[in-house]
Amino acid sequence: MTLVDADNAHAPRILTELPGPRARVVIERDERVCSPSLTRVYPLVVERGDGAIIEDVDGNRFLDFNAGIAVAAAGHAHPVVNAAIHAQVDACLHYCSSDFYHPVHAELCERLAATAPMGPSRVFLANSGTEAVEGALKLARHHTRRPNVIAFYGAFHGRSLGSLSLTSSKAKYRSGFGIVTPGSYHAPFAFDGELTGADYIEQVLFERMTEPGDVAAIFVEPIQGEGGYIVPPAGWLGALRELCDRHGILLVVDEVQSGIGRTGTMWACEHDGVAPDIITAGKGLASGLPLAAIIARDDIMQWAPGKHGSTFGGNPVACAAALATLDLVEDELAANAASVGAHLIDSLRGIAADQPLITEVRGRGLMIGFDLVDHDTAVAVERGCFERGLLVLTCGRRGVRLAPPLVITAAQADAAVSIIADTLAALS
Ligand SMILES: Cc1ncc(COP(=O)(O)O)c(C=O)c1O
Repeated sequence: MTLVDADNAHAPRILTELPGPRARVVIERDERVCSPSLTRVYPLVVERGDGAIIEDVDGNRFLDFNAGIAVAAAGHAHPVVNAAIHAQVDACLHYCSSDFYHPVHAELCERLAATAPMGPSRVFLANSGTEAVEGALKLARHHTRRPNVIAFYGAFHGRSLGSLSLTSSKAKYRSGFGIVTPGSYHAPFAFDGELTGADYIEQVLFERMTEPGDVAAIFVEPIQGEGGYIVPPAGWLGALRELCDRHGILLVVDEVQSGIGRTGTMWACEHDGVAPDIITAGKGLASGLPLAAIIARDDIMQWAPGKHGSTFGGNPVACAAALATLDLVEDELAANAASVGAHLIDSLRGIAADQPLITEVRGRGLMIGFDLVDHDTAVAVERGCFERGLLVLTCGRRGVRLAPPLVITAAQADAAVSIIADTLAALS
């Protein structure tokens, strides 16, 4: 059954109190047995999705501006993606791509390599963003034979011990886990102080903490995601590229959240005209199936058989979903993200002009954030939107992020802005 028709494509439908009676049953079961480390920010229990609409187990319908946290690039249940998945399910579910060959694996690696701004490249397929970052960390050390890495305050690169040593968006992610991978240093991101990025690395880290000849790579999100959807100023990423070139350091651009057309181009670093050495991708790559990628310059991804691998990485069903997703993103969805995203940013700036609770609106394509006066207000907006049928999440210190599926229409964007405006009016 489709959840989207001409009349309700942009209209949420809240029928019960939230959570509704069926949702409460599921939540109770889940919370009895499931790891309490999961952060469920509001009680949404999903039954199904269609495009940018999510229906919960009680029949309530929400406009989805989370996309399962920047994952459902082609929207929920896109017929082209689903058809590709069904065909591959019927052909073969799994046959370890680390040890054997699949046509879809070869084709996807070809397609991803062709998108690489740095020219001839090779691709390793993994299952999750954190795995792609772990692999990139290994690859950078392997290629340079240097021990150290640099990342940025506010960054999120994952939660396994290697990627966690780069993550610095919240202290709680590290607390209680002992020593993460040694040799990881951090610099302030973009607007976070007077000295940031390449200047800070050169004037502080290289002077006091690590000589450049010991640094394998600088890991950077071209738009900081969980740290607040922060778009660095023009030239900031280019200065990192120039610094890396001067010292033989690899520039690793983590596009797990910003990639696959979300900002209007395949990769967000393209807006800055920067060609990295390595790209990590995940989230939206297969529109919802677990798949991630390390894309690296051909001369860098030269490691012997057995140096890196994965039982499930490059699973053929996920590869088929990714090939269908790339077709859609390249044909229409990146352009839609650019145009609907620009409209959404303009509309949000329109309401911000008369709404003192919003202090800033920023973003690129459909990676949009707005700051509220404080953290509690951001949390209240997240909750108030949920109660009115709009799914959003907080980010950074006091921000709310909008990362809808790339299929959203201008009418759905307008409906979301109107719910945000109503929520803010109720809080004022
Ligand atoms: C930029 C970035 N890198 C890495 C990750 C980790 O991805 P995963 O949760 O798939 O391990 C995330 C997840 O939010 C991310 O936003």
